[in-house]
Amino acid sequence: MDKRHKTLGEFIIENQSSFQYSSGELSKLINAIRLAAKVVNHEVNKAGLIDILGAAGDTNIQGEDQQKLDVLANEKFIQTLKNREIVCGIASEEEDDFISINSQDEQHQNKYIVLIDPLDGSSNIDVNVSVGTIFSIYRRVTPVGTPVTIDDFLQPGDNQVAAGYIVYGTSTMLVYTTGDGVNGFTLNPAIGTFYLSHPNMQFPETGKIYSVNEGNYIHFPQGVKDYIKYCQQEEGDRPYTSRYIGSLVSDFHRNMIKGGIYMYPKSSKASEGKLRLLYECNPMAFLAEQANGKASDGKGRIMALKPTELHQRVPFFCGSTKMVEKAEEFIANALK
Ligand code: AHG
Ligand code: MN
Ligand code: MN
Repeated sequence: MDKRHKTLGEFIIENQSSFQYSSGELSKLINAIRLAAKVVNHEVNKAGLIDILGAAGDTNIQGEDQQKLDVLANEKFIQTLKNREIVCGIASEEEDDFISINSQDEQHQNKYIVLIDPLDGSSNIDVNVSVGTIFSIYRRVTPVGTPVTIDDFLQPGDNQVAAGYIVYGTSTMLVYTTGDGVNGFTLNPAIGTFYLSHPNMQFPETGKIYSVNEGNYIHFPQGVKDYIKYCQQEEGDRPYTSRYIGSLVSDFHRNMIKGGIYMYPKSSKASEGKLRLLYECNPMAFLAEQANGKASDGKGRIMALKPTELHQRVPFFCGSTKMVEKAEEFIANALK
């Protein structure tokens, strides 16, 4: 089977020249992420066998319990990127502040920064349900040769150079974009190689799946409640099907293949929703737009927002274009 498919390594080399500022550096960075993905995949796959399930006994800056795999995935990703000396800064869900790489030496020659959600869907770890990793890559805005600053990380999603996710599911896939469409690669675990299995992934223009934690319904804004009722009405191709895994990566991946909308609205309990703009929403928004879909905060494009904080949260509506537009319409109408 593998003969038919290009490997990720081959794909990266072939596409290097199409990057806008091609110097091989971004290719090396994607290669490092490929390696980190394999390392984390190895840990996730044996999670039931060794003592890495459960809580790590600590909380992150956002007050969430850290799971052992959260901590482990964070360490593996950061270590892999540091070792390869290809980024000048990293920010992670699991780190209070951004990390400046090489800040002690005078070089700082690398121009890329990475933001990661090392383990997405933590609540699914202990029950053998798909989890993921999300990454987002930018060119630094401060001068090469100086330590990175917060300004390098607080860039609008529109500045992303590349973004992607790894889904540790029934098979492990790495899906990413460098601004030229979205491609998905499946890991053959026997030989540790990713193969191009899903070239040029696209959201169907509309779909029949809505993904939202309906347990929070009572706390949602009226427009979101109205849209959910619309999804459930019997008319035309409705009612839609409800599917919610609770791992953004997995819910997004399914919706991209089948057509659907993912929603994490603000609520009376969480005024900005739950998901983080920089390492969850922006990378997924970049992928969505590159795959003919849409990503919105309920009013406008996620990637146009100017971030103000590293761990900033934002309401998130993402998926098939027509469905996201319909949700926006209900939200706008309820505000009239
Ligand atoms: P993380 O595990 O990185 O903290 O992210 C979890 C996120 C997202 O993946 C998921 O869709 C959402 O939280 C689920 O939240 P609820 O349990 O509130 O529905
Ligand atoms: Mn997450
Ligand atoms: Mn996480």
